[in-house]
Amino acid sequence: MMNVIKHTATEYDSSLPKMLATIDAICFDTDKMQEEEWTAFFDKHKSWLVVWYELENRPIAAAVMCWSSHAQIAYLDSSAVLPEYQKQGLGQLLLDDRLSYAFDIATVIQAHTRTDNTAVIKLLSKNNFKPIQYVPDFYGSEEDGILWSLRTGCRG
Ligand SMILES: CC(C)(COP(=O)(O)OP(=O)(O)OC[C@H]1O[C@@H](n2cnc3c(N)ncnc32)[C@H](O)[C@@H]1OP(=O)(O)O)[C@@H](O)C(=O)NCCC(=O)NCCS
Repeated sequence: MMNVIKHTATEYDSSLPKMLATIDAICFDTDKMQEEEWTAFFDKHKSWLVVWYELENRPIAAAVMCWSSHAQIAYLDSSAVLPEYQKQGLGQLLLDDRLSYAFDIATVIQAHTRTDNTAVIKLLSKNNFKPIQYVPDFYGSEEDGILWSLRTGCRG
């Protein structure tokens, strides 16, 4: 695809919350997190990975994963591709980047989606995630969610 540059971070950098919030603001209608909320996310979670792709110094896609080492469970927190770059494989790349990392640290990888988010549901299904729980009101009143799970079969 285009000439994109991949970045990954597992150590906090003060530019991360702004970068993630900027992409969220463009990609999400209702689930966007503000800069302060991303700062709180990094305060709260001990183990996390951020992957993002840049084109001409502009972040165009980003995803986040956190995990519990003792439970060996990784959780896909967020993934977003700017609309003009969607359906070109970046969503799959962001997933691959996190899965290859998660395979070394987790036996199970989980994610929540809205019930009507066709794009991410297709992406997870294609990558062998199974819907394991229907969660009423997960995103607020009458905004149900689905919990997805993938067993890595890794060392664990
Ligand atoms: C979900 C998202 C990250 C996918 O990114 P993407 O770069 O478009 O995904 P890819 O191009 O890698 O496509 C991966 C697969 O999903 C499918 N897909 C992507 N968008 C789709 C859509 N709107 N409808 C149906 N399928 C779609 C693709 O067809 C592809 O499968 P295929 O190769 O068999 O055709 C992107 O749609 C997005 O940023 N959405 C808004 C934010 C969001 O909802 N994030 C998920 C929160 S849980």
